[in-house]
Amino acid sequence: MTIEHGVSLKKYNTFGIEATAKDYVAIRSHDDLMQLLQSGLLLKEPFLILGGGSNVVFTRDFDGVVVRMENAAVRFGRMGDDIVVAAEAGKVMDELVRECAAKGAYGLENLAAIPGTVGASAVQNVGAYGLEAKDVILCVQAYEIASGKSRTFMNEDCQFGYRQSIFKGELKDKYIIESVMYRLTPTFEPKLGYKALADALAGKDCPTAAEVIDVITQVRWSKLPRPEEKGSAGSFFKNPVVPINVYERIVKDYPGLVAFDAEAGKKKLSAGWMIEQCGWKGRNLGHAGVYEKQALVLVNADGEARGGDVVELAGAVVSDVYQRFGVLLVPEAIIV
Ligand code: EPU
Repeated sequence: MTIEHGVSLKKYNTFGIEATAKDYVAIRSHDDLMQLLQSGLLLKEPFLILGGGSNVVFTRDFDGVVVRMENAAVRFGRMGDDIVVAAEAGKVMDELVRECAAKGAYGLENLAAIPGTVGASAVQNVGAYGLEAKDVILCVQAYEIASGKSRTFMNEDCQFGYRQSIFKGELKDKYIIESVMYRLTPTFEPKLGYKALADALAGKDCPTAAEVIDVITQVRWSKLPRPEEKGSAGSFFKNPVVPINVYERIVKDYPGLVAFDAEAGKKKLSAGWMIEQCGWKGRNLGHAGVYEKQALVLVNADGEARGGDVVELAGAVVSDVYQRFGVLLVPEAIIV
């Protein structure tokens, strides 16, 4: 493990925002992680654990240590009829999805092309196209930063919710995830509950895993900017989950409101749709902008955006959506 100083984070965040880390450590192996924990570095200064950097916005230099998880080993095992895949935190999720399908371990397909890493999949409970990481996570193996002790969190210990887990909640900054185990199956069953997906696959009776992965990749890239084209953090806001009466109040005035069923008595509203109604789609403010093909995505419009530009734009969007719909949007992205 090597500690570097004054490292630029521009290439480590998908927004492509310039910021400098006072200290920087890349974790590539179990030994690196043990050395980091034994060094006590994380107890001495502020730290930030970074995966693919696809969900952070840096608003200033980081006066502490940035730990980038680059450990990426993957092991396959059996559990009864199921296949258990243990992947290290730094493994890129999209690569894992494809490797699993190629090896005949199914269940992750709908997360194809999702930005981010395995570690983030557990912290964020990432989700797309009708699948959330929690649906396939068996357990999470992590180390307590204060004691250096290993702990296995079973799925039910992780307090998973919509883009939420114990690692973002109660135990925020208390544990560092080394690996995640997913429980997959040897037989492929497509999950086509998501309309855009079902439409794209209409006409195919029994799509294969490879076909589902291809279609999801196409749908996703038709809505999200290619990182080499424009920086972004995927969806910037969460879709707000509101009580039915709030939904009913809004839909009375806006019959076109896009909403989905959520837990009992609640509806999940499409934040992208509301932002679009406010006229923000494709509009810029300073160096930041709202993506022209998907209004939930904020972008680094000209490659020169600083975190402050993104935060200012986000504030303007939140304010407009609140004024029009009376609903408060909350960022999914982490503002550092
Ligand atoms: N819509 C609009 N205008 C827009 C965007 C969306 O009208 O500008 C409406 C459309 O009717 C569309 C619907 O909203 O059919 C839903 O849009 P989309 O399928 O793009 O999904 P989303 O709710 O905007 C969520 C996740 C994405 C995930 C997609 C697909 C969140 C915060 N985002 O986006 O996840 O890929 O569903 O499942 O839940 C991410 O978290 O970074 C992410 C990309």
